[in-house]
Amino acid sequence: MNIKFSASVLLLFFTQIFFAQNADNGAKLFKQNCAVCHASHSDQKLTGPGLKGVFDRVPKPADEWLTKWILNNEKLIKSGDAYANKIYNENNKAAMTVFEGQLSENDVKDILAFLKAPPPASKNTPVAQSDNKQTSTAETEKSKGSNYLLIFLVIFVLVVLWISLRNVRIALQNVVNVKTGKPIYEPQSIGDEIKEWLVKNNRLVFVLSLIIVFVGMKSCWDELWKVGVYYDWKTQKGYKPEQPIKFSHKIHAGDNEIACQYCHNGVEKSKHSGIPTVNICMNCHKGIQEGHNTGKAEKAKIYAAAGYDPSTGKYDESKANPIRWIKVYNLPDHVYFSHQQHVVVGKLQCEQCHGNVKEMDVIEQKNPLTMKWCINCHRETEVQMAGNPYYDRLHAYLKEKYKGKRDVKFTVEKIGGLECGKCHY
Ligand code: HEC
Ligand code: HEC
Ligand code: HEC
Ligand code: HEC
Ligand code: HEC
Ligand code: HEC
Repeated sequence: MNIKFSASVLLLFFTQIFFAQNADNGAKLFKQNCAVCHASHSDQKLTGPGLKGVFDRVPKPADEWLTKWILNNEKLIKSGDAYANKIYNENNKAAMTVFEGQLSENDVKDILAFLKAPPPASKNTPVAQSDNKQTSTAETEKSKGSNYLLIFLVIFVLVVLWISLRNVRIALQNVVNVKTGKPIYEPQSIGDEIKEWLVKNNRLVFVLSLIIVFVGMKSCWDELWKVGVYYDWKTQKGYKPEQPIKFSHKIHAGDNEIACQYCHNGVEKSKHSGIPTVNICMNCHKGIQEGHNTGKAEKAKIYAAAGYDPSTGKYDESKANPIRWIKVYNLPDHVYFSHQQHVVVGKLQCEQCHGNVKEMDVIEQKNPLTMKWCINCHRETEVQMAGNPYYDRLHAYLKEKYKGKRDVKFTVEKIGGLECGKCHY
């Protein structure tokens, strides 16, 4: 009895873990494949219906029908299935992706487990919080402005006070002078008096002007720093400009595991990685209209750039206006650099040159793009020749050349990676 009991507890425990894992994996798969068109635990309609309560409305047995639908909804519709045709028509014959070949039956099981599980811990709170954050940054901006106003007011009041006190002092002086029979005091002009004061307090004046010059230079410096002029001079690492849209690589490439190539689709075919056009953003953001951190504000910028009106769902090309991203990695024009060569032939990872982009909310230049940086890596990195058809002939030649010598490393240097002409036009 006892054994039976603990065995069933154990079983429950393991199924619980197993179930949780399924649902976790399902959540991930849902995000990657479905979240673009469906809200998981609410009624909100995106491109497709919200999936809250879906198990109750589809034909029974629900899991079986849903698996068929998710793997190949087209086939199910064509087969004449009444419910499939009903929702298809209700949604104006909008096409759902066919996932056969992309998702396995087990993947679909995990997704269904995720849909059955209680909704993930409410994400509404972060939205509310971030709204506060936004207003508070707006407020600090505002208070910065009012600070300047305050300083100006204080200076103004001090000057007025000083002038009126000066007049009072002269008047009092003269009252005393009249009583004691001294001649009436003729006030100097204000300018002369200031001059006299400056000469008397020359040290204080010197220190004050030093401070003013220093503060001025510091804020000029900070401005330059912000604009990034400083980094352009030095191709320094650490350049991290604020972008026109708060696009986060952490959210996209990290949390949602979108492949770099999905957006930077030139990286394997050309010199340039390329920056995605707004159409690529719209593939997903037509569906995802609100961010957890930034609410609607940032999304509105995407729609504006695409000339898209989310209330009517229509595009107006004449209103489209490309997003002006600020370029972070800049090589001078006299340097030749190819992504294809490094990523496809050299089999390097993006991280080796760009740092851990998946953790960055804002892209930051992680390496100085100096000649020394390129050359050091070419000296140290071995060329991946084995199994790389690009190098079959060269490899045979080098093996012949260094025959008998041990510990020869075929670094990029050895294949001519330090020749000036390779990197300079
Ligand atoms: C490109 C958009 C799109 C994607 C991606 C998508 N769906 Fe759909 N889905 C739809 C549309 C649209 C419908 C409504 C039926 C129709 O028009 O075909 C639908 C219907 C459904 C239904 C039936 C809903 C109901 O109310 O009965 C389920 C369940 C479903 N989708 C699940 C999924 C799952 C799970 C995924 C991810 C593996 C997914 N969908 C991915 C667009 C999409
Ligand atoms: C060997 C180092 C290296 C590797 C590996 C590398 N990059 Fe780059 N990347 C650079 C350099 C250098 C630049 C600046 C190029 C320029 O200004 O012409 C750059 C620029 C970029 C840009 C700006 C647009 C452009 O093409 O100039 C993007 C986006 C980018 N890289 C993405 C990637 C991605 C994604 C990967 C991985 C698939 C990757 N990079 C791998 C060095 C590298
Ligand atoms: C493959 C789908 C996909 C593409 C393409 C895509 N996004 Fe996203 N984006 C997402 C998902 C998923 C989220 C997360 C939604 C959430 O959970 O808040 C998101 C969130 C965001 C957010 C809001 C972040 C927040 O939490 O407030 C912004 C802003 C954003 N994306 C901008 C862009 C821009 C700009 C592009 C085009 C360069 C783009 N996205 C392309 C899927 C995509
Ligand atoms: C959803 C689309 C999307 C995905 C996925 C994505 N990026 Fe980007 N990437 C962008 C956009 C948009 C910019 C320009 C705005 C910025 O710099 O943040 C950019 C800029 C960059 C830059 C800076 C380019 C420059 O010099 O201005 C690098 C480097 C980069 N991405 C690397 C990567 C890497 C590595 C990955 C994969 C781990 C990746 N990106 C995944 C959209 C994406
Ligand atoms: C992280 C290491 C690394 C860095 C940093 C790096 N490279 Fe390379 N580079 C390689 C590797 C590995 C290869 C060999 C690719 C191959 O197999 O052809 C290569 C090859 C090349 C080639 C082709 C050489 C040839 O003989 O065909 C050029 C040109 C080049 N790199 C330019 C640059 C420039 C310019 C920079 C700096 C902006 C740079 N590289 C930075 C690793 C690097
Ligand atoms: C692996 C690639 C690579 C090779 C090989 C290379 N350079 Fe460079 N070189 C660069 C890069 C990248 C820069 C840009 C550095 C910067 O802007 O700070 C540069 C800059 C320069 C500059 C301009 C310096 C400056 O401060 O703007 C000169 C001159 C130069 N290289 C000469 C040479 C000569 C001569 C050789 C052959 C002995 C050579 N380079 C080989 C990558 C290379």
